Amino acid sequence: MNQITLNLNGKSVQSSVEPRTNLADFLRDGRDLTGTHLGCEHGVCGACTIAVDGVPVRSCITFATACDGADVATIEAFDDDEIMVELRHAFKREHALQCGYCTPGMLISARDIVIRSPDANEKAIRIAMSGNLCRCTGYVGIIRAIRSVIINRSVKNISPISGAGRSALGPAGSGHAVLEQVTSIPRDRLRFERSPKVAVLSSAIIDRDWVPQMSFDQSFKVGHPRPQVWAMFGRVAEVAVCLPGASLNGDPTAERVEGQMRVKVGPISAEFSGAAEIERDDGSYSGRIIGAGNDARSKSTTRGAVTYRLLDADDGRSTVVQVTVGYTLSGMLAQFGRAGIVKDVAGRLTESFAKNLEARLSGSTQNAEASDAGLDAGSLVVSILVEKLKTALKSISRFFK
Ligand code: FES
Ligand code: FES
Repeated sequence: MNQITLNLNGKSVQSSVEPRTNLADFLRDGRDLTGTHLGCEHGVCGACTIAVDGVPVRSCITFATACDGADVATIEAFDDDEIMVELRHAFKREHALQCGYCTPGMLISARDIVIRSPDANEKAIRIAMSGNLCRCTGYVGIIRAIRSVIINRSVKNISPISGAGRSALGPAGSGHAVLEQVTSIPRDRLRFERSPKVAVLSSAIIDRDWVPQMSFDQSFKVGHPRPQVWAMFGRVAEVAVCLPGASLNGDPTAERVEGQMRVKVGPISAEFSGAAEIERDDGSYSGRIIGAGNDARSKSTTRGAVTYRLLDADDGRSTVVQVTVGYTLSGMLAQFGRAGIVKDVAGRLTESFAKNLEARLSGSTQNAEASDAGLDAGSLVVSILVEKLKTALKSISRFFK
C-alpha cells in the first residue's frame, strides 16, 4: 500500500492505496464521489474525465498513487462554479443530454474549452470534445451548448482566465508540476483557430429565455411575387448585401450567419461583430433571425430578433413584408436605443433595404443605394428631426391661413 495526500475538491485527503488502484476507483469506491463515471475503462470514452492540477485527465487510466500532492477536482467540486453553472443551464436549454452518463466528463472538458478558448468555433469545439463520447444524445446540442457559453462570455467581454486556469505546468497529477510555474502560455497553445475579425460567433447564440427590451413593427412592399421574394430571402449572402453597413464572415449557411454591422451615431462609430441563427418556415412564408453581437470599442452589446412574414399583394404580383423587430442594447450606445430613435432609424434602414431588394429582384447586380458606407444613424436622426420640424411648420402655417 502507498500513502498519498491529495487536495480533493478543496480538502486535504490522506489515504493508503494499492499501487494498481486507478484514480476513478479511488474516488468512487474510496470517497463516494460517484459523479465520476466509468464507461470504457481504458481511456477512450471520456466519461471518467476529472480535473487534476486544473487539467482534464482520464481518471480510469491514471493511478491514484501518481497523483500524490496533486489538486483533484471531480464534478462535485463545481456546484457553484460560475462557468459550470452557465454550462449546466446551456446543456439543459440545448437538450445536450438524455441519460446523462457522459455528462460529468463532458462538462469538465467543456469548462476547460470555455476558460482557455474564448473564440473557439464549432469545428474547434468538435475537435476539443472528440475525446468525450456520448452514446445516446448525439453532439449537436452539446456543441451548441458549449458554443453558447463561449459566445455569451465573449459578448459580456469576459476574458479568458490567465494561465487557462492552470497554476503550473507539468504532467497532470505527477506532483512535479510545481517545478515549472506558469508565467505565460504561448497564444497558440491557448487558442484554437480564430476567424479573421470576429470575436463572437455561432449558432448557439440563441437564448430562448431572452426577452427584448423594445420591439416595433415595420412593413414594406416589393413589386415581385411572393415565391420569388421568399427564394431571395433564403439566399442569405444576397440579402446581406442589401442591408446598409452589413458584411459577412465566410459563407453563411441556411441556418447561421456571422459577420459585422457598422453603425455611426454622431461621433461614435461602432462595428458590431456577431452571429445569428436563421429559422424559416416554407409553409407560412415566415421566418425568424435571432442574433447577438458586441462592439469592443464602445463596449456596447446587443441582442436582437427579427420575425418576418411575406404576404401576397396586388393579386400575387407584389409582396408585403411584415417585420417585427425586438432588441436589447447595452453599453455606451444604449443611450441611442430609445424606441423612438431606433424605430425611425430602422425605418430608414428598411426603406434602403427595400429599395436594394427591389433592384436585386429586378436583376440588377448593384444596390439602388450604396450599402457599404455603413448606417449613419447620426445623420439619419438629424434628417428625421428636420422632417419633423418641416411637418410642424406646415401645420403652423395652415393654422395662420
Ligand atoms: S472510462 Fe475512462 S475514458 Fe472511458
Ligand atoms: S447523454 Fe447518454 S451517453 Fe451522453
